[in-house]
Amino acid sequence: MNAGRGIVVRSCGISVPDKVLTNDDLAVRLDTSDAWITERTGIRQRHVGGSTSSLAAEAGRQALERAGVAATDIDVLVLATTTPDAMVPSTASTVQELLGMRGSGAFDVNAACSGFVYGLVVSAGLAATGTDRILLIGSETLSRITDWDDRKIAVLVGDGAGAVVIEAVDGPGNLLSHNLHSDGSLRHLLYCDHGGYLFMDGREVFRRAVRVVVESAEQALADAGVGIDDIAMLIPHQANLRIIQAAAQRLGVPEDRTAVVIDRYGNTSSASIPLALDDVVQTGRIADGDLLLLSGFGGGMSWASAVLRWGA
Ligand code: ACO
Repeated sequence: MNAGRGIVVRSCGISVPDKVLTNDDLAVRLDTSDAWITERTGIRQRHVGGSTSSLAAEAGRQALERAGVAATDIDVLVLATTTPDAMVPSTASTVQELLGMRGSGAFDVNAACSGFVYGLVVSAGLAATGTDRILLIGSETLSRITDWDDRKIAVLVGDGAGAVVIEAVDGPGNLLSHNLHSDGSLRHLLYCDHGGYLFMDGREVFRRAVRVVVESAEQALADAGVGIDDIAMLIPHQANLRIIQAAAQRLGVPEDRTAVVIDRYGNTSSASIPLALDDVVQTGRIADGDLLLLSGFGGGMSWASAVLRWGA
């Protein structure tokens, strides 16, 4: 990468389907209960429906509007997703068409629930090598690969999208550090084969998730040359409130500096970090110049963290 050009994040935007499924709705057809789901996961409801491209386009449109950037001014669209609308073309190409941005670069990134952080790093690489404006979106319709009769998975997932407008700047920019990881020997813990449903060894993923989030987050802090007290907000992947709380506690981040939206959206894979980011931005919990610690983990098993200074 060219250390002479970095990135800044100009804005964010989100989209979730209108249809809401509460825990009580799920308990009508599954042997489960609101008490079990809330206590074990922190999830109270999730949004389901739409397509990955339609949700992505809506989130992207909102982020573009908030940045005051026209879709036609975007040079590359990077879409993080594990639930593409089709094998071919890339869902990014469909989103590009929906946004009216013909001709720019567009491609998908699949790193499961770590996808948004991977996409951020890919965007920094594009900026370093000459790209001026990037639209990065995390979008998922996990409901489409969910067996709604399997209570172990059905209670966890949700659909949604989050987007950010990224601009290249001269100098190091606002992505202070990052690390990307994957261990393919752990594929069996979390996968969805062609035509199949999502399978997860929840207990084992849980056990490993806290450790890898803490390790990679600490690595990102050290590489950025900052301490945990310098971080205004931890923005973790939203897979389970207990994982978020355990990781935050080990990192030494208090509750009021941890972004949590899993109660409203469930696990939305690569959309969960931008959904949580948008929430802390729109509620005024972070300001320009604040340092954010992003950390994702999921299928692969993959995991990734980054320290990002908020604002342009
Ligand atoms: N309702 C009621 N009971 C349930 C449900 C449910 N929805 N699901 C499981 N149970 C039962 C189990 O059958 C089990 O019963 P048993 O003891 O009689 O066998 C009991 O509850 C306990 O099951 P555990 O799996 O031990 O429950 P746990 O506390 O571990 O919670 C969970 C399960 C929520 C899946 C948790 O392990 C978890 O969140 N794991 C990590 C998930 C994650 O981080 N995934 C990564 C990303 S996901 C993605 O990429 C899409």
